[in-house]
Amino acid sequence: MYYTFWQRQGVKARLGPSFGWIRKPLHEFFYEEAKKYGNIFGLYGFIGQRGLIVNDPKMVREISIKELHKFPMRFAGHMGETSMVHSLFMMQANDDWKRIRTIVSPAFTSGKLKAMITPINRILDNFVRNLDKHGESGEMFDVKIYTSALTMDVIASCAYGIEVDSISRPNHPLIKHAQRILSHDVSIKQIICFVIPFLARLLNLEPFDRESTKYFDDLTFKIIEERLKAKNQKSKDLIGLMVEQTLNDQSESNEVDKNERKLKGISREEIAGQGIIFFLAGYDTTNVTLCHIIYYLIKHPEWQDKLYDELCAQDSPLDYESLRSLPVLNGVICETLRLKPPLTTVQRTAHEDTTLLNTGIKIPAKTAIIFHPYIIHRIPEYYPDPESFKPERFIGENSMESSIAFLPFGSGNRLCVGMRFAQNELRAAVAQLILHYRLIPDPNLKLEYFYGNDILSPKKCIQVLLSAHRALIN
Ligand code: HEM
Repeated sequence: MYYTFWQRQGVKARLGPSFGWIRKPLHEFFYEEAKKYGNIFGLYGFIGQRGLIVNDPKMVREISIKELHKFPMRFAGHMGETSMVHSLFMMQANDDWKRIRTIVSPAFTSGKLKAMITPINRILDNFVRNLDKHGESGEMFDVKIYTSALTMDVIASCAYGIEVDSISRPNHPLIKHAQRILSHDVSIKQIICFVIPFLARLLNLEPFDRESTKYFDDLTFKIIEERLKAKNQKSKDLIGLMVEQTLNDQSESNEVDKNERKLKGISREEIAGQGIIFFLAGYDTTNVTLCHIIYYLIKHPEWQDKLYDELCAQDSPLDYESLRSLPVLNGVICETLRLKPPLTTVQRTAHEDTTLLNTGIKIPAKTAIIFHPYIIHRIPEYYPDPESFKPERFIGENSMESSIAFLPFGSGNRLCVGMRFAQNELRAAVAQLILHYRLIPDPNLKLEYFYGNDILSPKKCIQVLLSAHRALIN
């Protein structure tokens, strides 16, 4: 009976759990399922979990805005007891989530992002300098080593105000702990936490490395203390900006004592939780996007040339505002995010028994509603010739950027809070790379992906050949 729950409601589904995702990358598995079953179909897990795939952009929009109260949880698993449970990503969309989003969001406004371009440019200078030797040697190299270092250095600097330089200091404790939390190898502990949450609670298991989350907690508490003491210093990093929000609240009401700060603003543990999630949600996603942009530019040299011409035509400095207004640069980034959205699976989970919109489909409590940007981005009604790389889809009057069928950063009220931060970093990185080097075209370049991984992360390194430094050619 359990394995006919969806079929009894007229929803298509495989009979029983599927093992297909063990043998191929998750995005390929779901794309094949969607070709068989359509935009809406059911899923069964191994131990009592159910999911409903909804790849209809209009329905996704409604679920993410109007019906958010019905599906407030992201995951039904056991998220443990570390500060990570206070992070926006892991929280239920309740009043606490709203309070924290209201405090975190101002850290990502254009004014704050403008100020972050200075440390980002410093890290980019280093990135380009590191590539110099490969331009000179004319040998193939793995570009992912450098994009990983770049994105790690940017998030360490912009979130915590710590300059790391991961290429020359790979043993920096921040890098080691970040890597432990970010590890792609799913542990038995994590499987139990996500699949058998009651057992995980019973065994007091933590899905994320306790020692490493504690390292980030301590780092955050230290930064908070420093910022609290240095009252007149304006912060540029995300932790500092959140602390300032708290101070603003305090100055409005002088009676609020330190221990009651949570009532007005945000607690230390909550700030720590956001810091860790900036790594978790922001590092891999931005890194793989940069890798994919490089991949498409290698395969489509004509877009590299257009990009180079656009960048050379700028007579003002490439700052936050000017980078935002470059149509080819933005077209290339959006089209890459359309074809390779880093998070292939986005989900909302029902808190109580409910129904899906006006479909009459019954959704029991703890059932996940899942949508796949990777599949929605390939619906031909929105994107004719969907498999082709065509940045012009995002250039000019009919740009698809604000379409309901473009959702690399998710949808509705839980839209990625770091979206503008990521766009800013990607624009600056691609601009510097293309201004300094030409990526030697290779139409046969192919990527392979990890199996069973939610992040669309290329498995093998991306072998790249650079021209000599542009300044030496031109
Ligand atoms: C190319 C880079 C990125 C992509 C494609 C991306 C994508 C996403 C997606 C799809 C979601 C889920 C949205 C939803 O449920 O509707 C999300 C949530 C989130 N992202 Fe990003 N992200 C990126 C970079 C970043 C960065 C750089 C940060 C922080 C510095 C960040 C922080 C977050 C947070 C905190 C959430 C949870 C928001 C909430 O539930 O309220 N992301 N992101």
